[in-house]
Amino acid sequence: MIINGMQSQVLFGKDAIASRVKQIASQINQDFHGQSLVIVGVLKGSFIFLADLLREIDLDVQTTFIQVKSYEGTASTGNIEIIQDIDADISDKEVLLVEDIVDTGLTVAAMLKHFTEKKPRSLKICSLLHKPDSQLNEIPIDYVGFSISKEFVIGYGLDLDGKFRQFPNILQLKSEVS
Ligand code: IMP
Repeated sequence: MIINGMQSQVLFGKDAIASRVKQIASQINQDFHGQSLVIVGVLKGSFIFLADLLREIDLDVQTTFIQVKSYEGTASTGNIEIIQDIDADISDKEVLLVEDIVDTGLTVAAMLKHFTEKKPRSLKICSLLHKPDSQLNEIPIDYVGFSISKEFVIGYGLDLDGKFRQFPNILQLKSEVS
């Protein structure tokens, strides 16, 4: 399929995604066994992943959202803007940040700084996708669905200028088609 002049190919199909989401959830269930957890979904890209992950979590969990903006087109701007902050008090709580993808890591760095100031008891990061070759900092990602190369991906919540989030598979965009 050609998308915005780029060739695309399926990187992860919906069955592979579903089974990986179950594995991550079961790890989270084990790690936070007997504890309460606040899950913070980083909008917008995480909303489909979070919806699936959450339904596999069997902990005492409170869910809230933060909306940030960092990208235009397929390039990171490096400027992270908080469009809407969480509406929950996370002080002295176990917090899990749920991201769609960690690319340069600038968003996650800004999120860590932002949330650390709110004094949670613990703060962990879960990201469906991780591009280790693009990450500019050393922030460890506690739960990673899939590590991928630098190519741009769409689908399963990930967008290109607000589009293609509804695709059930994750597609990788290849070089321009003339
Ligand atoms: P970072 O700050 O560069 O780590 O980028 C994080 C944000 O950029 C993610 O939450 C996504 O919204 C967006 N992003 C980074 N790479 C991709 C991609 O390949 N496809 C879609 N969005 C991406």
